[in-house]
This record gives sequence, structure tokens and C-alpha cells, in this order.
Amino acid sequence: AAAEKGGFDSFMAKEIHDQPQAVADTLLGRVDSNGRLALDELRIDADELKAIDKIVVLACGTSAYAAHVAKYAIEHWCRVPVEVELSHEFRYRDPIVSPSTLVVTISQSGETMDTLMALRYAKEQGARTLAICNTNGSSIPRESDAVLYTHAGPEIAVASTKAFLAQITATYLLGLYLAQLRGNLFRGEIADTLADMAAIPAKIQSILDREDEVKELARAMQDTTSVLFLGRHVGYPVAMEGALKLKELAYIHAEGFAAGELKHGPIALIDEGKSVFVVVPSPRGRYSMHSKVVSNIQEVRARGAKTLVIAEEGDEAVQDFAEWVFRVPETKTLLMPLLTVVPLQIFACELAGAKGLNVDQPRNLAKSVTVE
Ligand code: G6P
Repeated sequence: AAAEKGGFDSFMAKEIHDQPQAVADTLLGRVDSNGRLALDELRIDADELKAIDKIVVLACGTSAYAAHVAKYAIEHWCRVPVEVELSHEFRYRDPIVSPSTLVVTISQSGETMDTLMALRYAKEQGARTLAICNTNGSSIPRESDAVLYTHAGPEIAVASTKAFLAQITATYLLGLYLAQLRGNLFRGEIADTLADMAAIPAKIQSILDREDEVKELARAMQDTTSVLFLGRHVGYPVAMEGALKLKELAYIHAEGFAAGELKHGPIALIDEGKSVFVVVPSPRGRYSMHSKVVSNIQEVRARGAKTLVIAEEGDEAVQDFAEWVFRVPETKTLLMPLLTVVPLQIFACELAGAKGLNVDQPRNLAKSVTVE
């Protein structure tokens, strides 16, 4: 078993380190030499894809956070409304689905019963269906009109890591492909984004090379009983995923919030010594989010919080208000989740290990939930 873990203490640690490969393999063979996307593997007719007027993304758990990230990118690139919903909520509320709706399911295993049942419901309503899945020939892709496989390789640890990064990568390929097909983006813009995506694996590796910075923090925090995570825009689902990892693995109460929502409630939770992770957007972004999130850091710090900041290299503005800072390389705002989530995964994995918990098989959880 030690050999299967590639020398790591757990499958999860190994899978965190597999992430540069998972992203690279998910991109592989899908971009032609002219920087255009070639997704012939999608068996949905191009004219049908052009006629889509709404996308609904269905998933559970970590896969649902990949769906949330995808919404920001696909709406921005394709100008098609994207709804994200938990599979088990979707079909019990009389959702609006038509033949011009593309229902995208995201599932690592392809066997999650909640998502499978939601897919069947969507088909009954006449929707086109596309599966983003990591498991060849599993039920969800088998029952879908089209499939875009994530090539993360088998994921053994119950808590999902490399599948998550591969899912974001695949949804972005889908978004760019739709934009290409529908003429929403200039060719150069698509090629430029794909080139930035191709640079992501090396950037993830540079984060992994500095994982000791995160591990040291995790070990120092093993007696913590509550941790908050704040993020904005694509950093918001990253905050929720960071919190989920900590709940799943370390059994620590954790919540992810949209940073802008802080003043509408969650700030009441801040007291002396409360640990708050903040995922900071790039200061180079064309939205003014960066300064707003820096203000949020100041607000929680003024109330006694211990501020743990994930920020871009060269972002000097955060330094004075952070107890601890972890730097991620520069990339496009929409691609940042592929980098900023990595330290949060390492944090949860290391903290759970330090507590002596079974990192690969947390209590009460299953890798694939095949009952409703
Ligand atoms: C379970 C696992 C999670 C996973 C979720 C969705 O709850 O413990 O890690 O994110 O199922 O699984 P799927 O295979 O559909 O992505």
C-alpha cells in the first residue's frame, strides 16, 4: 500500500501532488496546433449547442463547488445564463428545463445517486445532457447525450482533490468551446486563455514545492475548533471548498462565506483569536474586488481575528493585515481557483494527519454515495 501511495503518508497527499498531472492530462489532446479547441468527442450536434439558451449544472459535494466556479467563467465567456444546483434539490422543485437547456452534471465517480436521478429527471423534461466525469463508462456518462471526461486518474481518498481541479479544467474547456462555437470570443482570446491554462500545472507544482509553509501552519492549529473562510467571485466557491475539506477531514467546524456578505451577518462570529482564511483576488483584476477584500481582512482583524491570507505574488497590500500569507503565482482571475484551493487542501490534509485521523477515510463518509 505504501508503494501505491507513491511514498506519501496518504492517498490524499499523493492525489494533491498528482494535481499538475491531472490538469495537464485533462487539457491534453483537446487543443489543436492553432490554439483552437477540438472537442469532437462531444457527441452533441454543433447546431444544437449553438441553440442552447440556458445551462444548468448539477452536482453534489466538491463537484458542486466546481460547478459554482464554472458559472463565473461560462457566463462571462458565453453570455448564456448558467444555473448551479445541488442535484438532490433540483428535481423536487419543478425546475424550468426545455430542449434548449443544456444540463451539465459533474461527478467524479459517475455513480452518485442524487446526480443520476437528477439527470434522469432532466432527460424526461427533454433537456440535452452532458456529463463531466472522471470514471469511464460509469452510469452518469452512459446515460448522458455527451461526455467530457476529466483525466485525473483514479481518485482513492474520500475527500476529492485532483478530480476537483480536473473538473474546473473540463468545465472551462466546455465554456471556451461554446464561446468558440457561438462566436462569443475572439480567436485570440480563446487561444490566450488556453495558453494560460497550459501554464497552470507548473504553477501548481511551484505551490506544492512550498507546501511546508502550509503544513507548519496546520500543525500549529491542530487544536482549533472553528475556522472561517472568505472569498469573493471565483474565490467564494474556493472558500466553501476549503471549509468543506476541513469539515470532512479534521472534523472542525468550518464555514465558507462570500466576503461581501461578511457585514450582513457572519462578522458577528468574529471574536478574539478566531481563525479566518481569506482568498484574495488579484490586484491586477479589472474588477475592484481586490481592495474590497483587503478591507474585509482589516475588518476582521480589527475585531481580533487571526487572518490567514492566500494572495498573489507581489500583492503588497495584504502584508500589513495578515498573520500569515501564502503566495500563489499570477494568473487570470478566472483561473485563480486552480491555484488558491491547493494550499487549503494541504492545510486540511496536514491538520487531520496531525490530529491522528484517517485522512483517506474520514468517519461517516463514503467516496461515492450510491443511495439517495
Ligand atoms: C461524496 C464524496 C465527496 C464527493 C461527492 C460527490 O459525498 O465524499 O468527496 O464530492 O460524493 O461525488 P461525485 O463522485 O458525484 O463527484
